[in-house]
Amino acid sequence: MGKVVLGVTVGVAVAACAVAALVVGRRVRSRKKWKRVVGVLKELEESCETTVGRLRQVVDAMAVEMHAGLASEGGSKLKMLLTFVDNLPSGSEKGIFYALDLGGTNFRVLRVELGGQRSDLDPDVEQQPIPEQLMTGRSEDLFDFIASSLHRFVEKGNDSVQSSIVKELGFTFSFPVKQTSVSSGVLIKWTKAFAIKDMVGKEVAGALQQALARKGLNMRVAVLVNDTVGTLALGHYHDADTVAAVIIGTGTNACYWERTDAIIKCQGLLTTSGGMVVNMEWGSFWSSHLPRTSYDIDLDAESPNPNDQGFEKMISGMYLGDIVRRVILRMSEESDIFGPVSSRLYVPFALRTTAMAAMHEDDSPELMEVARILQDVLDIPDVPLKARKLVVKICDVVTRRAARLAAAGIVGILKKIGRDGSGGITGGRSRNDIKMRRTAVAVEGSLYTQYTMFREYLHEALHEILGEDIARHVVINVTEDGSGTGAALLAASHSSSGSVDNIQLV
Ligand code: BGC
Repeated sequence: MGKVVLGVTVGVAVAACAVAALVVGRRVRSRKKWKRVVGVLKELEESCETTVGRLRQVVDAMAVEMHAGLASEGGSKLKMLLTFVDNLPSGSEKGIFYALDLGGTNFRVLRVELGGQRSDLDPDVEQQPIPEQLMTGRSEDLFDFIASSLHRFVEKGNDSVQSSIVKELGFTFSFPVKQTSVSSGVLIKWTKAFAIKDMVGKEVAGALQQALARKGLNMRVAVLVNDTVGTLALGHYHDADTVAAVIIGTGTNACYWERTDAIIKCQGLLTTSGGMVVNMEWGSFWSSHLPRTSYDIDLDAESPNPNDQGFEKMISGMYLGDIVRRVILRMSEESDIFGPVSSRLYVPFALRTTAMAAMHEDDSPELMEVARILQDVLDIPDVPLKARKLVVKICDVVTRRAARLAAAGIVGILKKIGRDGSGGITGGRSRNDIKMRRTAVAVEGSLYTQYTMFREYLHEALHEILGEDIARHVVINVTEDGSGTGAALLAASHSSSGSVDNIQLV
């Protein structure tokens, strides 16, 4: 009897030990996996580091590259394109003007009535998404689609489509264009999700003008402008201290007002104003000071334009969500904190930046929005709260880096034109000797206007880089629908009735 009791007791003890060992083993394994995931996060944080010192290096590099791009054609990755816009709207423009805005995810048609007095503009705007197949098909199909939308829009309004009076149109085309005049230019390359091969090297306004003729629209493309230039025009219309404009949306770019004598690559460029807007195409800016991660390298290598648009790929809305997807994928492969690896994690661009921003800004205590997006978008169900918090942190690291780099880009422009309080690129003068003038920068794009965390990080970095004393002279103005409305304003100031061609290339 005693032996039996002893046997049972030993058996129970052994079983208890085994269970305990199993539990401890599992805990140790799970702790190890968690440690690995935390390691991935730590590595991400370190490689995305944007200390103010590093940001200042980016500022300097931007200013130096701007000089190089102005000095010679191909002198820098920054194209520093001439726009032939040598005067910004004054406020005295009058009449009815149309604009087409093509370049992001959506396409806009606008009609603006200008009363001749700087006033609040209230344009009629119609917006629609661009069908994906048109972004990669034939150019004729894309331009016919645009012309049809414009035709419907004009018909809906009070203006007659076939009126004998030519309607003036501003065309915002948000891709790198080598302009030959304010109303003409050839496409250098596509960016973002566009890739219509037959269009590269072709005259852009000409292609639109032909499509308008095919639809029987009596309209003239008065100006062909980049979205940054439209934004600068509207920014300047409302605030005469505006010297630069920045877009941070699907893509990113900036333009600014430059003295013609600083545009060395175009010797003999004469404008009556003595200046011209330069489209920087800063999306292709590159510097060894940019904090680059393995995820950026993979994203770039797998993109249709490797080794190009490096700055854009770290900053703009087209890419941020995809960087986050890549980090979650790596964590998921290295541990099971997200359960079995979801096949959706392998799909490029499966996580859009809007969804990423929604996760980042989820302020519910249980992070229910994060759980919903992981489940609905990435097919990852039942993610524990601890792992959801990790996802929010990834979004934070990626967005913070993007916003801070954009801020450094802006200060780079201010430095180039001597408005950063440092005495310009050659320095020399002490900060105390410099009288800072009020300086406004117009900003547009969904990342800036709709993503609060992004906007706050950008402002914070501007203050850090410039210092409070200088930063209080720098104003950031949001220009709603600036890219389109600004193009209509420029169409007005360059309309056939009122404009004189002031630009000479001698
Ligand atoms: C284009 C620029 C444009 C920017 C913002 C970039 O991808 O190259 O021309 O201004 O996107 O739309």
